Amino acid sequence: MDWSDSSTAKSMASGTHSAVNEDTNDKSYWSHDNTEGMAKVTETLNMLLADVFTLYFKTKNFHWHMSGPHFRDYHRLLDEQAEQLFASTDVIAERVRKMGGRTLSSVQHIVRLTRLSGNEADFVAPSQMLAELRSDNERLAGFMRDTHFVCGGVDDVASMSVLENWIDEAERRVWFLLECGRKA
Ligand SMILES: [Fe+2]
Repeated sequence: MDWSDSSTAKSMASGTHSAVNEDTNDKSYWSHDNTEGMAKVTETLNMLLADVFTLYFKTKNFHWHMSGPHFRDYHRLLDEQAEQLFASTDVIAERVRKMGGRTLSSVQHIVRLTRLSGNEADFVAPSQMLAELRSDNERLAGFMRDTHFVCGGVDDVASMSVLENWIDEAERRVWFLLECGRKA
């Protein structure tokens, strides 16, 4: 096949990926002109951001209210996990801004968008805390996979790349919570 005259070859040579799609009117490329695609990614990233904030706060809640013979270990573990979650929030929000979208602007906005729940009980047993967080982190990893799929639809490889790391981190949190929650 002679690629020398194709739009693909020209766009690869010029480094303009969007040129690949001009022939087909394909809306699968990352560009501010692709308003529909950008809006879809913005929506899904903002939902994910709301989920991460919710799980961050729940992890802190359980960190603060931990009790029992494993207090020190669990208290520390949940602090580490909360820090990991919090570290991703700024990156998610700024991915949205880089796409020209608006991101979350209030706690109320988080509450409207989140798919996860907090826990306001006066007392939660340590084993229940670990089980709840494990389940929430598993769900979060699933939401991240969904988000990754949507980002792939507009060739948003930068979001996909960070999401891949966050999925690994979420699965690590699940692993630790699972092992800590096993009955001796
Ligand atoms: Fe603390």
